[in-house]
Amino acid sequence: MYPLQVVNRPNTALRSNIHGIDVKVPVLGGKKKPFIFFDNAASTPPLKSILAHMDEFMKWYSGVHRGTGYKSLLSSKVYDHSHDVIAEFVGADPVLDTVVLVKNTTEAINKLSYRLEFKPGDIVITTDMEHHSNDLPWRQQARVEYVQLDNLGKLDLDHLQSLLKKNYPRVKLVAVCGASNVTGHINDVHRIAELAHGFGARILVDGAQLIPHHSFNMKPHSHPQHIDFLAFSGHKIFAPYGCGALIGPRGVFEQGAPEYSGGGTVNMVFNDFVFWGAPPDRDEAGSPNVPGAYALAATLEYLKSLGMLQLSRHEQRLTSYVMEQLGNNREVILYGSTPRVGVVTFNIKGLSHALVGAILCFEAGIGVRTGCFCAQGYVRKLLGERENPGHLEYYAKRELYKLPGMVRISLAAYNTQQEVDVLLQMVEHIVSNKKAYRDSYYWSEELGTYIPKGLPVETLVEQIYQRVCP
Ligand SMILES: Cc1ncc(COP(=O)(O)O)c(C=O)c1O
Repeated sequence: MYPLQVVNRPNTALRSNIHGIDVKVPVLGGKKKPFIFFDNAASTPPLKSILAHMDEFMKWYSGVHRGTGYKSLLSSKVYDHSHDVIAEFVGADPVLDTVVLVKNTTEAINKLSYRLEFKPGDIVITTDMEHHSNDLPWRQQARVEYVQLDNLGKLDLDHLQSLLKKNYPRVKLVAVCGASNVTGHINDVHRIAELAHGFGARILVDGAQLIPHHSFNMKPHSHPQHIDFLAFSGHKIFAPYGCGALIGPRGVFEQGAPEYSGGGTVNMVFNDFVFWGAPPDRDEAGSPNVPGAYALAATLEYLKSLGMLQLSRHEQRLTSYVMEQLGNNREVILYGSTPRVGVVTFNIKGLSHALVGAILCFEAGIGVRTGCFCAQGYVRKLLGERENPGHLEYYAKRELYKLPGMVRISLAAYNTQQEVDVLLQMVEHIVSNKKAYRDSYYWSEELGTYIPKGLPVETLVEQIYQRVCP
């Protein structure tokens, strides 16, 4: 159904398929430079081949399941098949598991938090390295315990074990990221699954940062290291259009009412009784995101055809290179250790993370992310900072540069060593010109970024807007 592509150098093939890879951006001095995208942990760019499929498919797009006519029949087939492709990509069981399509990882985790029926006193164990999306939803539904970190910012599995033991049999779930969006640390989720199962708990893997960078298998249900639930986002794995997945045992989604009800979720409705539909329909309320599902499935098939292993090897090589080179600079503080996906976080001594991010953007055309990356607790711990309610004032005044944070580069398999070298040279340049930089940029409350004196950023953005979104 989805065209396969056989290639010798998967990362080069992937790069030539990136939509917008040749975009240039205005930088200080009046020139334009190729835009280098190192914020793949936030969202990845879309693929040309997938956009071409979408163009073709959209001629046939229609509502699914409840329509008659060829368009609806075709769209239903595409939508249903997308679930199977997604399940296969992560080694889910085609019979025992169901794939619920959602917007993104955040929605997937929130959904699970509603669908696991917690009793008073039930406990969810999560960790001190989570994104807010794998922390806050649990706080609303159960008592939450946090696995502590070691001095490298990695999970302390002895502490996990002691939490499981101490709270047995009330721990219902261990919710842990497959890879951190702050340090890129890869957690041994299969080992964690084994520990959790040993104490009668299930495991959820937040796969937002793992699935795009590694081949992954949930392992059979009978395996002690089986992953019970997995959540991930399409937009972080080259599939735009807002589709993500929550995968887990059908049995869980065959019980109880969904948190959103309405069209599509039911078999029959009487005045005083509702016969809910079977999974995944029961949990996909309303008209589903058919284009998003198709784009995600087609993208996963494409990545599989390139080889996830080869793609991740290239990314690993780049990651080791950037870590080593930045590590050689005494003015750079690096966070975290290995094994990690292509996420590298750092600070330059004596300069605000927000200023460094702005210099990279407005002088080298590099897009990174700065701040706390929706993982405030973890970033504070890595920085050795305390919780400080006084910081709320900075939010109120939009003085975000005063908040603790880091600069994050997040690589993907299409990035190149040449791109990394541009960044490394720029970091050296910033380090050598620290003093000058403190005066040559000003903070714009409106844009929430530092701006170089001499570059009319707001006007430039407006011009691009007029051209791109007429
Ligand atoms: C580890 C992790 N979990 C969850 C999320 C939330 O993903 P989304 O914004 O797609 O819901 C992110 C987003 O960056 C993430 O990095």
